[in-house]
Amino acid sequence: MSAKPLVSIIMGSANDWEVMQQSARALKDFGIEYDARVISAHRSPDLLFDYIKEVSAQGVQCFIAGAGGAAHLAGVIAGKTTLPVLGVPIPSKYLKGMDSLLSIVQMPKGIPVATFAIGEAGAANAGLFAVSMLAAGDKQIAEKLVAYRKKQAEQIAATTLPELQ
Ligand code: RP5
Repeated sequence: MSAKPLVSIIMGSANDWEVMQQSARALKDFGIEYDARVISAHRSPDLLFDYIKEVSAQGVQCFIAGAGGAAHLAGVIAGKTTLPVLGVPIPSKYLKGMDSLLSIVQMPKGIPVATFAIGEAGAANAGLFAVSMLAAGDKQIAEKLVAYRKKQAEQIAATTLPELQ
């Protein structure tokens, strides 16, 4: 674990890392310390509760949780902490992540989870959303975020289409 992670990324299985590394990439690009690990709400609930307590005491500001299928991870984390929880639905084998999406998004009133798109875009955006939250209290991060958006807009503006064949 990094000395003082500001964001915790948790996923239900090592198989989720292919998608969830997009969250880590976004945070790394902004120089934000994070801790990423596999902990399952179903397979290792005690470990999950211990870990939430541990990283919260270390100053983590929010959790990004990626899970697939009966994806209860984000909701369970949200039930144990008042820190913001960002949920990423992982594409699943048979239902293609619709199961994950609905499991994460349909939280009961009172325990919110901010739910993102299924898959890589959702994972990347969860990372960027965490950056935005941290930017609210950190001028340097805020400036980097403005520069990131500017570069993105410039890339779009510079995009040309191929000639008709
Ligand atoms: C969830 O079950 C995980 O988040 C994963 O997406 C899904 C399947 O897990 P594995 O059987 O691939 O480990 O807990």
